[in-house]
Amino acid sequence: MDRALLVLYGSQTGTAQDTAERIGRQAQRRRMKVRVEAFDSYNVAGLIAESLVVFVCSTTGQGDPPDNMKNFWRFLFRKSLPAGSLCRLDCVVLGLGDSSYPKFNFIAKKLSKRLLQLGANALLPVGLADDQHDLGPDAVADPWLKAFWEKSLALYPLPAGQSLMRDEEPLPPRYVFHFLDDIMEESSGRLRVQEDSGPPSSAHPFLARVVFNHRVTSLSHFQEVRHMEFDISGSNIEFTAGDVVMMRPCNAPEDVDQFCQLLRLDPQSQFTLKPTDSSTAVPGRLPQPCSVRHLVESFLDVSAVPRRSFFELLATFATNELEREKLTEFSSAQGQDELYAYCNRPRRTALEVLADFPHTTAELKVDYLLDLFPEIQPRSFSIASSLLVHPNRIQILLAVVQYRTIMQKPRMGMCSSWLASLDPSQGDVYVPLWVKKGSLKFPRDPDSPVIMVGPGTGVAPFRSALQERISQGRTANVLFFGCRSESKDFYCRAEWEEMVKAGQLILSTAFSRDQEDKIYVQQRVREQAKLLWDLIANKNAVFYIAGNAKQMPTGVCDALKEVFQTEGGMSASQAQEMLDAMEKSGRFQSETWS
Ligand code: 2AM
Repeated sequence: MDRALLVLYGSQTGTAQDTAERIGRQAQRRRMKVRVEAFDSYNVAGLIAESLVVFVCSTTGQGDPPDNMKNFWRFLFRKSLPAGSLCRLDCVVLGLGDSSYPKFNFIAKKLSKRLLQLGANALLPVGLADDQHDLGPDAVADPWLKAFWEKSLALYPLPAGQSLMRDEEPLPPRYVFHFLDDIMEESSGRLRVQEDSGPPSSAHPFLARVVFNHRVTSLSHFQEVRHMEFDISGSNIEFTAGDVVMMRPCNAPEDVDQFCQLLRLDPQSQFTLKPTDSSTAVPGRLPQPCSVRHLVESFLDVSAVPRRSFFELLATFATNELEREKLTEFSSAQGQDELYAYCNRPRRTALEVLADFPHTTAELKVDYLLDLFPEIQPRSFSIASSLLVHPNRIQILLAVVQYRTIMQKPRMGMCSSWLASLDPSQGDVYVPLWVKKGSLKFPRDPDSPVIMVGPGTGVAPFRSALQERISQGRTANVLFFGCRSESKDFYCRAEWEEMVKAGQLILSTAFSRDQEDKIYVQQRVREQAKLLWDLIANKNAVFYIAGNAKQMPTGVCDALKEVFQTEGGMSASQAQEMLDAMEKSGRFQSETWS
């Protein structure tokens, strides 16, 4: 019998990919022939010929599929697909979601329903892993996977005479490193310009020069927010208000050095990669040959909190008794509480873990580097400027992430601290970037007013929209901005005031900590009930929220529903219906992030 398993993943930030790869390794230990692929790199038409498939997918904030499953998604929902087309397929769906978002695991549920409709045979109910679970998504995924392996081994038993591979036995690496003898000139410099005629993309980013990078919150303010500008002349990049810029950060040079020391690697040495399996490709972003420095600096994510799979693999290299015991415990199902306390709670980085296990680290085989460390993922930022006002430029508002845990060194956001460190006054510095359509859409109708609620850096897309709209002569704009203090973090103030003076903007501010009681944007929304109701009910206004997802969006929605009730004479349920209808027709939009 053909014991072939296909694992397809749709992943936005890498978690679903990591889980899919873990399932792939578990299948290898069960002596199955396994392929692990992103939905969109798989030829969907082949599904009818598969026998056993695990679908792993996350759901993005607004209930959409991740970018690398969008084509698959469109194909799967074609009306022309016959109902029984997948009747030979045994499958399961594992969703990775976050129950603090309203559309929890929406994509996994919808996918599972559609597969059943097409005749597939589900071996298990859809798995709904939750990031909000105290012990992380594995708390749901582990028992679900255990049930899956029991079912699939019953259906596809091990051939006679074969047994499961033991956990201590290392699986072969995905790639083998071939080091070049001659130290060649560093051809794979830190950032290379990619020659390509299409618009810049993840595979071919544009190297944009940093024009300026300055702090816009006062030095005494707890949070560093920076205003940055990038030169995109000659890039073919086009965008409109609401779009986002993507950037992939690098590891800090001192981290690269420490990593190379711990692993006893020469950063100058050059290698080429050879996949060990014909279905694996060399990552397109890595030049061949590549230097160790380039690999570590711009590809391996050594600054993230490592996942359990990292410990599983590390444990197979440990010869030091103490280290092996600890690593084995961290990889086991029973050790997850302890792993959480050691790693996730203090936000310990993979590099710090390596330093804690020096014997094992020194024994790591270089071939396993790409199995151990995930690839550095790009980060997205709302674009805060318009090409109509700043041609050939992209500006962002960057909140620098820094906080303390029990670890001695403060925790730093990898991308934001990297960007903050770039200083164009010391010579030209470049950032690889590309642009993606965002979820916020601004009205085409020139007469539609906009009402925008953007506390903190949530104001970024609205600055872009205001610049765009005002240069097109659209002056029906209302902005609610909230920050802690008028004197410390009221950035872009002069720009707003100029717009207000010119009659192009109605501005309402909420300074939460300038008085004893907190004042938030939602209070201002309530105070402006008459104006807002008139704009929404009579002038077809569109209402927007952007900013940090926690309580803010709910608070603002509640205030808006109150406006509908007080000014529109609605009941609570009518107000909710009106908000739902506005959301459906695109007249209420939100973009929130954590
Ligand atoms: P705070 O930090 O004083 O609580 C930008 O971060 C602004 O959003 C800050 O003034 C912050 O206030 C405020 N903020 C925090 N929680 C909020 C909420 N639930 N609703 C609206 N604004 C909030």
